[in-house]
Amino acid sequence: MEIERYSTTAIIIHWIMALLIIAMIGLGIYMVDLPKGSDERSWFFALHKSLGLTLALLAFFRLSWRLIRKPPALPSIVSATHQKLAKATHHLLYLMMFIQPVTGYISSSFSGYKTRFWGVPLPHWGWKNPDLNELFTEIHEISAICLSVLILLHIAGVFYHLHRKETEIFKRMWFK
Ligand code: HEM
Ligand code: HEM
Repeated sequence: MEIERYSTTAIIIHWIMALLIIAMIGLGIYMVDLPKGSDERSWFFALHKSLGLTLALLAFFRLSWRLIRKPPALPSIVSATHQKLAKATHHLLYLMMFIQPVTGYISSSFSGYKTRFWGVPLPHWGWKNPDLNELFTEIHEISAICLSVLILLHIAGVFYHLHRKETEIFKRMWFK
């Protein structure tokens, strides 16, 4: 039986974003422990912000693409409960793809530093406010934890189906 796959564009963007998001979580955890005021810390923070904003643009493009090209329906062999769980996880992952960069951007806007996108300064609408900076940094950290839990749940779901073989779920998100 022919497997119904996601479109090539959806597959390419899924894997680029998956790699970048996982790298960003590692980068975020690594950079916050670097010595304050060091060049290394500034360099990694700038990289994290630029990559994070790039991910927000990719998420926007991805969501628009998904609205134009509907994803293939899951095979009926997947139980109704698992279909619902997969759908809920995917929707929450989409939500987190926006919440994560937006909270990072807002926290940065209250840090007193200009946020740069690959070296280009963005309009500086925020101001130095340690309370707001701390609040949004905390939300950014909590949302990173939620995102990580969702990713683990998502990967667990894929492995569960890989193990059961008959549903061929992985191939739906892989090239022909
Ligand atoms: C940061 C990591 C990841 C994120 C944010 C993510 C996000 C998503 C989202 C949102 C979908 C639903 C796509 C749609 O219906 O439009 C999806 C589908 C899928 N993902 Fe991931 N993913 C990640 C990592 C992975 C990894 C590591 C694997 C492999 C182990 C994987 C395998 C799949 C597969 C097979 C599907 C298709 C599921 C189906 O048949 O409907 N993903 N992913
Ligand atoms: C998908 C995108 C993103 C992911 C997955 C991500 C993830 C993370 C993680 C895991 C941390 C470490 C939290 C901790 O352990 O304290 C972090 C910190 C940080 N992120 Fe992001 N982030 C993203 C986007 C952004 C964006 C777009 C910006 C700003 C424009 C940003 C600004 C920051 C800042 C300033 C910190 C350090 C907070 C502190 O000083 O403790 N992030 N991020």
